Amino acid sequence: MATPESMDDRDGWIWLDGKLVPWRDARPHVLTHALHYGSGVFEGERIYGGRVFRLAAHSARLIRSARLVDMDLPWTRAQIDAATREVVRANGLQSGYVRPLAWRGSEVLGVSGLGTDIHLAIAPWAWGAYFSPEARLRGIRLTMATYRRPSPESAPGESKATGLYIICTLEKDRAIKAGFDDALMLDWKGRVSEATGANIFLVIDGKLVTPRPDNFLDGITRRAVMGLAQARGLTVEEREVWPDDLARASEVFLTGSASEITPVRELAGQHYQVGPVTPRLIDDFAKLVLRDDCEGFGESTHLADVELGKAA
Ligand SMILES: Cc1ncc(COP(=O)(O)O)c(C=O)c1O
Repeated sequence: MATPESMDDRDGWIWLDGKLVPWRDARPHVLTHALHYGSGVFEGERIYGGRVFRLAAHSARLIRSARLVDMDLPWTRAQIDAATREVVRANGLQSGYVRPLAWRGSEVLGVSGLGTDIHLAIAPWAWGAYFSPEARLRGIRLTMATYRRPSPESAPGESKATGLYIICTLEKDRAIKAGFDDALMLDWKGRVSEATGANIFLVIDGKLVTPRPDNFLDGITRRAVMGLAQARGLTVEEREVWPDDLARASEVFLTGSASEITPVRELAGQHYQVGPVTPRLIDDFAKLVLRDDCEGFGESTHLADVELGKAA
């Protein structure tokens, strides 16, 4: 049942297949392929000062995610950027979140997605912090997930594909029910990979350490934070991270478009301080997102290759 805060019962506009439609009218049919088989790809973006941080990188990653699951989006990166700006403006948002979603429609239904149309919706809304402000200040508590991120032989894990999020939803819910804020997932080899909707960084001996993305999402915030750390003269090590490394870390934090930079105070029985590195990066990030060039590719130059058809 819809409550006043329900996602489907709000004022405003959603960009749907080329048109701005009233929020409550943006509904697909129950026989939509993506509902049955998880055949969708999406993005999560933040609006700061009326502009979408790393908009070009997010739109390019949406196209890349789609290609990785054999969906050819009938919109270019520039068209998706323009549509995003249009719908953010139509909703009068200076800050908030944007959810672009591309999916296979209801033209035919069966395991095969051949014959479906590809649809695109872009919905922005006012939204504050992902974790509570208190948790963000003191640090959040993570538990270890039971499920692992799949191997490259099992799933196209670099794609932000809706179907791949079932493990994240299960683990996030399990964590919340057990009194934690989120869960840390290992990968198929037992290496540290990511939280259910964010990447992870560790401070070890004054260096910033983060897992090299191996079949999990290479976050756009992650890339921005690596750039900020390097600009501060910090050594950034992108490498295999094993559970043993967690005991050697003095600080741990998560990065993501939703969670921004969120300190972790507890993880699998280990306790961490919030600082000195994490608050400095939080300050740097707050300035970065308001810079004039914030809508570009920034440090995610690898995604610019999508334009040239080079990436995936
Ligand atoms: C599973 C997962 N990992 C990492 C991230 C962080 O990615 P980004 O910084 O591009 O938002 C996200 C959020 O999109 C995510 O859902």
